[in-house]
Amino acid sequence: MYSYYPEDLIEEIRIGNDIVDVVSEYVKLERKSKYYFGLCPFHKEKTPSFSVTPSKQIFYCYGCGKGGNVIQFIMDIENLSYIDAVKYLADRIKIQLPEGNSAEEIEKAKLKRELLNINVEAARFFFTHLNSPQGEKARQYLEKRNISKQVIRKFGIGYSPEERERLYNHLRSKGFGDDAILRSGLVLKGKNGGFYDRFRGRIMFPIFDIRGNVIGFGGRVTDSSLPKYMNSPKTLVYDKGKNLYALNFAKNSGEKRLIVVEGYMDVISLHQRGIINTVASLGTALTESQGRLLKKYAEEVIISYDSDSAGQAATMKGLDLMKNIGCNVKVLSLPQGKDPDEFVRNNGADEFKKLIDNSISLIEYKTRVLRKKIDDGTAEGKIKFLNRIADELSRLDNSVEREMYIKKIAEEHGITWEALYSEVYRRLKPKSDLKPAAVNLNSYAKGADKKEDRGEDGRIVHDERLILALLCVDNSIYASVKDKINVDSFTDPENKRIAEIILERLENNKGIVPGELLNIVDSAVAGDFARIFNTECHCDDNKKAIMGKIRSIELFKAEKRQKEILELLKDEGSLSEGDVEKLKLELKSLIMMIKKQKSS
Ligand code: GTP
Ligand code: MN
Repeated sequence: MYSYYPEDLIEEIRIGNDIVDVVSEYVKLERKSKYYFGLCPFHKEKTPSFSVTPSKQIFYCYGCGKGGNVIQFIMDIENLSYIDAVKYLADRIKIQLPEGNSAEEIEKAKLKRELLNINVEAARFFFTHLNSPQGEKARQYLEKRNISKQVIRKFGIGYSPEERERLYNHLRSKGFGDDAILRSGLVLKGKNGGFYDRFRGRIMFPIFDIRGNVIGFGGRVTDSSLPKYMNSPKTLVYDKGKNLYALNFAKNSGEKRLIVVEGYMDVISLHQRGIINTVASLGTALTESQGRLLKKYAEEVIISYDSDSAGQAATMKGLDLMKNIGCNVKVLSLPQGKDPDEFVRNNGADEFKKLIDNSISLIEYKTRVLRKKIDDGTAEGKIKFLNRIADELSRLDNSVEREMYIKKIAEEHGITWEALYSEVYRRLKPKSDLKPAAVNLNSYAKGADKKEDRGEDGRIVHDERLILALLCVDNSIYASVKDKINVDSFTDPENKRIAEIILERLENNKGIVPGELLNIVDSAVAGDFARIFNTECHCDDNKKAIMGKIRSIELFKAEKRQKEILELLKDEGSLSEGDVEKLKLELKSLIMMIKKQKSS
């Protein structure tokens, strides 16, 4: 249903990517008998509830309810569509995919390659011009900022000549067509038809993706004119919110933490001084895609933005975002008015490393910001500050951490710790007299197995899924249940759709396994199936289990129909005599059947 790749090919890709190997690239797993456990990458937790079951090739988190097969895992963790996840996994095991069978796909892949070629050619062109007579001013500027020759080479820094269409003409001479050149974003179309270069008279910074492809550029003026920077627009190969500048270098630093700064110059300056675990978000607040990238390559992320108000807002946003995706995050604070580049230039790498080691946690950072914002020296301001901090502290879920911060913050801000302590604990008092209304309505509750909350319809949907799961765990049971079920036995539309595929497979002796079933099911229910596989498909007698479920479904349907008929018969007057008779007969046989089912 999802794709234009043949089913067999997708299955080959799924099988070729062992789920334990793939998940291990993101999560540290530990073996516990038949399972592996680790900290869930999809929600914040301190004790592992994320499981991987190699025998079934599935993952499932007992904490947040996410689950599925290896393709689903890649979709979730890399934020990819189904097709892109399949492509990613094919790439991982060097399977050559047919390049999409739609003409459109083939065209797009070709164009992407061409844009990357244009970008490399342009980077070469800019680099050459930096070292030409025209590049004099740019060279001087870089020298003034102490950028070394080696770093210029490493980052491929260049210069775009002042002329209107030097790059355009160069790209044409290399054989690229107008359409591709325009789509690269490096050249614009003039009002009266001509073409002109987007970047002119600027120091050029190629932007690399994680594999080192040049995907875009930033260009800085060599004086104080405006705009200071110009960046490539969004193209087929560049999307600024999905990329982090210099991550291609930083990911190999061997460090467990990554530092996020704002600008090109900050990264370059730090790299030059040996601090290579640094990336730049390029002037925007962190996006979720960037957050996931960071989480993939670092155990801890340290944000080091300017301390001006824009930088502060971006820091706050970045902190919350990183925390929400379950990443350890801290803030490095610089002396007022300095950026990392200036600081490291004036004070050296060792002093910067000290700042890294003194980075503060989210809660400490919020405290400092709040203090500046609301404590105006009046008693009222102080009380307000105390209250807001108590709010924040009461949100910490670890009591050891909470008490440590109560002491630390109280000391730092001249509050008695008893006062802060009592404010925090007042907020933590059980809210038993408040109705626990919306609690647990978040998606995490989905994973918890709450039979009693499921309701009748929920129960039947679940029983149907269990039947489907059991058939995949043990294909041999099909023979003994085939007379008792068919597609119409299933009431839930999604289950019906899945049953259609599974029953057809089994009928034709084609076989199906759990990991494969998860290719067929919709993403939204993959977690539920993974949970069923993990928690309910262990019984020794799968046949007995499936029979039990088939009976309970029959019973459920019979009882439902019974109720319907009783409702109809309440209003006997509006029915014809014949209908009444028919309904009564049906009712009778239903009652007999229900009685039989219940006694067996
Ligand atoms: P220097 O001023 O040379 O030290 O550069 P910087 O890299 O430190 O830049 P700054 O801290 O001023 O800005 C951070 C980042 O925001 C830059 O690296 C750019 O990506 C982006 N940026 C800054 N100014 C502009 C601008 O005028 N336009 C655009 N589009 N982006 C900008
Ligand atoms: Mn700067």
